[in-house]
Amino acid sequence: VKKIAVLTSGGDSQGMNAAVRSVVRSGLYHGLEVYGIQRGFLGLINDDIRPMDLRSVGDIIQRGGTVLQTARCEEFKTPEGQQKALANLRKHGIDGVVVIGGDGSYRGANILNKLGMKTMGLPGTIDNDIPFTDFTIGFDTAVSIVVDAVNKLRDTMTSHERTSVVEVMGRHCGDIALYAGLASGAEAILVPEVKFDLEQIATRMRENFAHGKRHSIIVVAEGVGKGEHIAEEIERFGIEPRVTVLGHIQRGGTPTHNDRILASRLGDFAVRKLIEGESGKSCGIINGEEVLTDIEVVINTKRPFNMELYELAMRLSQ
Ligand code: F6P
Repeated sequence: VKKIAVLTSGGDSQGMNAAVRSVVRSGLYHGLEVYGIQRGFLGLINDDIRPMDLRSVGDIIQRGGTVLQTARCEEFKTPEGQQKALANLRKHGIDGVVVIGGDGSYRGANILNKLGMKTMGLPGTIDNDIPFTDFTIGFDTAVSIVVDAVNKLRDTMTSHERTSVVEVMGRHCGDIALYAGLASGAEAILVPEVKFDLEQIATRMRENFAHGKRHSIIVVAEGVGKGEHIAEEIERFGIEPRVTVLGHIQRGGTPTHNDRILASRLGDFAVRKLIEGESGKSCGIINGEEVLTDIEVVINTKRPFNMELYELAMRLSQ
């Protein structure tokens, strides 16, 4: 490849900027021309494509959001939209694309690859729902934000001897709830991957209070349902919780060093693999090692849930 382009797509995540910076600077380092596509697949269709230089990615490694912006694009799902996108890439002489995003973006990357464009996927989403990588870019920061919020909630819950229901993001994946729940010592972690019994949870909480516990935290993954609804249900079993929905707060703010390093490694990895002629692959890091997996396999595989961590969290929250 000689000219590559990079785009961010779907929900943004902290560390996407670090990934864009890495793709641009690694590409330039290897003597490639690098383009930035604005607003994801929409920008590809609208020819919102501009050349990037070293300075165009200066001062962004520490910023949340994405300087390339992002969009959810219906038109790219149509053959006409796809042909427009391809024509624009060809017009600029672009022969390789790095797509940074989650599940939907990976489906777009898969289409580009099938149309004959060399394409690499980087897992950029707070949800951690992409398999074949230990973590996705943004997950670490999102979990830190939830942990920080739970610390604050715990202060006021303890003063009033109350229960807090905290709804977190993650779409169909319980990882944000699991990791944040374990890291913040939550008494219950409700995730779509594990069956739960609210009556049992409420009974345990009442017993805990009777034995001197002064607060309870229930972390609810949005994939399970609304925190408000869980609170209503649990009220029937004699607990009167307060509900907090953390929402898009979880998607903003400066990325942690883990996310910046992950993004920097993956961006560089994607560029090297494009140069080697690879295409249609997802870049991941597993146990510290770079791993390349077919995007087709990635989008057809459900990420396994870490039951060991879940059971550990439950054992420690007595
Ligand atoms: O995929 C990231 C994510 O933040 C999910 O956790 C959440 O379900 C969704 O995006 C929210 O989407 P939107 O920003 O379009 O409201």
